[in-house]
Amino acid sequence: MKNILFINASPYRNGATDKIFSVLTENTDKTKFVCKTINLSDYNIMYCTGCTSCYQTLECCLKDDLAGIINEMEKADAFVIISPSYWADITGQLKVFIDRFTPFCNTHFPRACLPEGKKGFAIALRTGQNPGECLHIIESINHFYGHLDIYTEDNYSIYFCGIERKSEITDNLKEKIKQFAELINASV
Ligand SMILES: Cc1cc2nc3c(=O)[nH]c(=O)nc-3n(C[C@H](O)[C@H](O)[C@H](O)COP(=O)(O)O)c2cc1C
Repeated sequence: MKNILFINASPYRNGATDKIFSVLTENTDKTKFVCKTINLSDYNIMYCTGCTSCYQTLECCLKDDLAGIINEMEKADAFVIISPSYWADITGQLKVFIDRFTPFCNTHFPRACLPEGKKGFAIALRTGQNPGECLHIIESINHFYGHLDIYTEDNYSIYFCGIERKSEITDNLKEKIKQFAELINASV
């Protein structure tokens, strides 16, 4: 069995993001994958202080819940990160999470590393209609994957515009999410 870690950046439970996640996980092949979901807002993740001591120590000096999440990430074969647009960007929870991976960033050496061979998928949603905002969110998530050497491809992402509430996840959109789950089933 392979492990998929779903990382939910929305702090709102039972909203549109949760609905997309539940359709996605329902359609993930349970004979092939063990799925685990992390709702970032359930965890105490402190802000990076910019001290850069991690450049020498290869670990963050802040002690909080991040270590447990890194432990889950080490076990995962693939990640699916989903973020709604908050002010045209990823949510604050996801930004704080990403900043704390500076010890793992491949722009400096030595650095901490996750085990090789992981794949990264991204999902964005927003209320407005212009896709540019969702593409920016996906780019931020893929930037994170790239600096951690997590493999991704152009079609490893989807986005949804015009979504404010979970009731707006129509059958049409559920079908799109199902197809994305099938891509994950086939690619991981
Ligand atoms: C604080 C906040 C900021 C938001 N900013 C934007 C925005 O800049 N652009 C946009 O299209 N939608 C914005 N939205 C709408 C959310 O992206 C949208 O409602 C999404 O479906 C929320 O997902 P949820 O139901 O999981 O909370 C914002 C929502 C909140 C709560």
